[in-house]
Formats: sequence, C-alpha cells, structure tokens
Amino acid sequence: MKHIGKSGKMTLNKSFWKNKRVLITGHTGFKGTWLIFLLHELGAEIGGYSQSVTSERPLFYTTVRASSLIKNNFSGDICDLEALKKSLREFKPDIVFHLAAQPLVRTGYQNPLNTFKINTIGTVSLLEAIRLEQKSCTVINVTTDKVYRNIQKKDAFYREADPIGGKDPYSASKAGSEIASYCYRNSFFNALGIGLATARAGNVIGGGDFSPDRLIPDTIEALAHNRPIILRSPSSIRPWQHVLNVLSGYLILAEKLHGDIQYGDAYNFGPSKDETLSVSQLIEQMIQLWGGKHEWKPADKQEYFEEPYLALDSSKARQELGWFSTWDLKQTLTDLILWYKAFEEKRDMHSTTKEHVIKFIEWRKD
Ligand SMILES: NC(=O)c1ccc[n+]([C@@H]2O[C@H](COP(=O)([O-])OP(=O)(O)OC[C@H]3O[C@@H](n4cnc5c(N)ncnc54)[C@H](O)[C@@H]3O)[C@@H](O)[C@H]2O)c1
Repeated sequence: MKHIGKSGKMTLNKSFWKNKRVLITGHTGFKGTWLIFLLHELGAEIGGYSQSVTSERPLFYTTVRASSLIKNNFSGDICDLEALKKSLREFKPDIVFHLAAQPLVRTGYQNPLNTFKINTIGTVSLLEAIRLEQKSCTVINVTTDKVYRNIQKKDAFYREADPIGGKDPYSASKAGSEIASYCYRNSFFNALGIGLATARAGNVIGGGDFSPDRLIPDTIEALAHNRPIILRSPSSIRPWQHVLNVLSGYLILAEKLHGDIQYGDAYNFGPSKDETLSVSQLIEQMIQLWGGKHEWKPADKQEYFEEPYLALDSSKARQELGWFSTWDLKQTLTDLILWYKAFEEKRDMHSTTKEHVIKFIEWRKD
C-alpha cells in the first residue's frame, strides 16, 4: 500500500484497519486517547490496558468519553505479567501499541526507581507476555526522541543509528525500553514471526493534554485565566508537532510491519527542520493565535537539567514508510487552540475531538 495519494495527501488505509483488533497500553493517556479516536474512525476494534488513575486536573480520556469507543477495557499494572497475559488471551490483538509509561522528566528525577520499573521493566513485561501468549502479532513500542545520547549536535539532527543513552532517569529508562525491544526482536520475535518496531517522536502537542508540568497545558491554563506564563527553559530548542501527525506515523509503521517483519526497527517521527523552534518562539506564536495581551517570563531558576537542543532527522520514516507531517506548525497551533477554546466554552468534547480527527484524516494540502 502506497501512503501518498494523488494530490500529495498522506492516506491512512481504512481497508487495512477495518476490524483489526488493536490493543493499546496506556490508552487512557494523552496519546492513547487520540489514538482511540483515530483507530475508531478507521474501523478498528480497540482494547485498552492501563492502570486506573486519579488526577487533580481533568482527564482527557474521561472528558471526551473515549471509553465508549473501546471494546475491551483492561485495568492493570504494566509490570503485572499475569494480568498482561490474561488480557492478550482474552483480546487476541492483531496489533499492539505500547504507550503505557511514566512520561515526565521531572517525575523521573523525583522517583527514578518507579520510572525505570514502569518504562523499562514494564516494556519487558509486555514483550514477555507477548512471547508467552501470542502466536502472531505486530508490536509498536512508543519511546521518545530523548532516548538518544545527547551530544549537542548543532548542525545535524539525531538519526536512528546514533547511540542511545539518557542522562536523566526518564530518558535512560526509555533507552532501556529500546534495548529490551532490540533484544526481544533478535532473541525471540524474529523467529516467531512477530514484528516489533520502536517509534521515537519528539514533543507532541494537541488539544486534551492536561498533564501537570507540561508546557502546553500550563500555557493554556495561564492564557485562559490571565495568569503569567512562566517558562522553565525558554531557549531550549525542540521539535514540535501535532499528536495526530505522530500517531499517523505509528499507524503507517504498524501496517508496513504487519505485512513484513523486515520493518522491525527504530523509526524517528519528527517535524520538518523549520518547525524545530525554541520554547519561547512557540509560546509567542500561541499567544498571537489566542489573542489578547499576554506575556511570558522565565522561571526564577532551572529546577533540573533539561537538554538545551534536541531534534530528529525523520528521513528514514519519509523514505521507507512514505510518512510526513500532515499538519504544519501553524495548523497544529490553530487546531490546538480551537480544541482548548471549545473546552473552555463547555462544548461536547467527544464530538469536537471526533471532528478534529476526521478533519485530520481528510486533510488535503492546496
Ligand atoms: N506526550 C509527549 O510529548 C511524548 C513525547 C515523547 C514520547 N512520549 C511517549 O508516548 C507515550 C504516551 O505518552 P502520553 O503523553 O500519552 O502519556 P500520559 O501520561 O498521558 O499517559 C500514560 C498512560 O500510561 C498509563 N500508565 C502509567 N503507568 C502505568 C502502569 N504502571 N501500568 C499501566 N499503565 C500505566 C497511564 O494510565 C496512561 O494511560 C509514553 O510512552 C511517552 O513516554 C510522549
């Protein structure tokens, strides 16, 4: 299946996804919830495996009533081998997207042991459950751009062949998840015919993120309530992209891998080079699109180390998978602000989210 349509539009293959049984670990999170809406629109049957969570902020998953789109909902810890095996036995997925994680850098510093448990041992537990239970399936392990050993490449972007390793517990624990995937692929899955790939994306943004300590939710809170916008690392440069751009990459990778386990490898999914901006440049664009008078100021002190420069080279995904970012940064920010404004106006967020997903699937560049 070619993914580039006649007019340069990237197509998601509805006939492939129709009735596919797709298990998502971490389905109640930010990416998981968008993935549920996207897969549901493509006709897949969806199962989810996550631990139950409580949060002071609204939860995207519950706000948009994503559970109504799920066929089987499993509640369990990602390190619980027996619970994972039972879910696989019951649901029998064709495809597994592994998203469950402790995804925050700050929490990694506060609780490194738990971060390694969830991110590294959690991945091993899932892969082991698949090895023991599953005769055939395709697995996409979602890691991050932070898995690369950061050597401050100023003029070049990180490529899949660059060494991995992370200075902070979150990055290192995700690098551990990469190493476990490489090991399971070569030791077990290739021989079993199970395709396993890892997907490395940078900072994803979009409506629905309410996580504490993340730039976009904190900025939206400040904009909506006329509070000062405090930036922790205003000059840090990051690849910014819409969550749906990245998820479409995961879907295309899964489809390719399902047909041919030779696609079992690591893939970067980053935006184009001119969409790699500093934190302050991004926030200035958001302020302009939101409207009104708002200003940002730097935090008094940097609480912990964050890499100043991180960018991805995604030529491999473009060349081998035909993937590219559907929405540019301007469309990404426009869509994101529309979503949060609809939320502030107390609109029906299930249908709003569905509309955004349909707009993304049908997007055509002029
Ligand atoms: N959001 C980003 O900008 C970003 C960037 C790069 C990589 N990632 C990666 O993408 C994936 C999804 O991120 P997200 O932003 O949706 O995170 P999130 O925090 O919104 O969701 C995490 C999910 O994992 C589940 N989970 C956490 N601990 C668990 C445990 N012990 N057992 C079972 N389930 C558990 C949660 O219940 C939730 O469903 C993660 O692997 C993250 O590292 C995210």
